[in-house]
Amino acid sequence: MIVAIDGPAGSGKTTVAKLVAQKLGFFYLDTGAIYRSLTLKLLKERVPLTDVSKMREIARSLRLEFKREKVFLEGKDITEDIRDPSVDRSVSLVAKIPEVREVLLPLQRELVKGKNAVVEGRDMGTVVFPNADLKIFLTASEEERARRRWKELSSKGKDISFMEVLEDLKRRDKIDSERDVAPLRKSPDAIEIDTTDMSINEVVEEVVRLALRHLKGAGVFSS
Ligand code: DC
Repeated sequence: MIVAIDGPAGSGKTTVAKLVAQKLGFFYLDTGAIYRSLTLKLLKERVPLTDVSKMREIARSLRLEFKREKVFLEGKDITEDIRDPSVDRSVSLVAKIPEVREVLLPLQRELVKGKNAVVEGRDMGTVVFPNADLKIFLTASEEERARRRWKELSSKGKDISFMEVLEDLKRRDKIDSERDVAPLRKSPDAIEIDTTDMSINEVVEEVVRLALRHLKGAGVFSS
């Protein structure tokens, strides 16, 4: 069973998807982390984000592992590094390149092959897993999403103002939803949940309820 969760930055996808996966005992895949890991590597190797052939080459050779909610690039734990504001600023520019998406598409399917999984990103329900059993689209107001992200960064000691976070979020939303390939969009068959005034627990419970309802409907559970 695949539960696909899409939505804009700060809509609560990562927190919710992780907890839903834990509750259901499913594998969890954060596809934003794949784009972030590639971006981190490109920044480290000082590859200009206009050099498409070099970006494609590096995307092809990306050695990523997801273990116990941590991300490893070539064996090194980069879970924290990929959340740095420097990665935030560049990741949408990397993710909008069709050649990069083309390389990363099969990798995402490969990572969950044969597993029950909760997958989260921007194009899970529309492109990567169009046949997902349950599709959720999370939203929240711009201010609320920026507030969540700012809180998260501040708690990690990152020196960044709320306005900087808000501006970066708006810029990313624009790039992510206006790009030509796999833009951020709600799949017509996705269930939209506005999380602005909801607690994390409430959102998690709602998604788990929908997932269990689906499993019951599919005859997996009898009660
Ligand atoms: O969810 P996130 O903020 O970690 O995602 C980081 C960036 O990666 C985001 O700006 C858009 C891009 N992304 C994407 O284009 N497609 C996905 N499936 C996941 C993320």
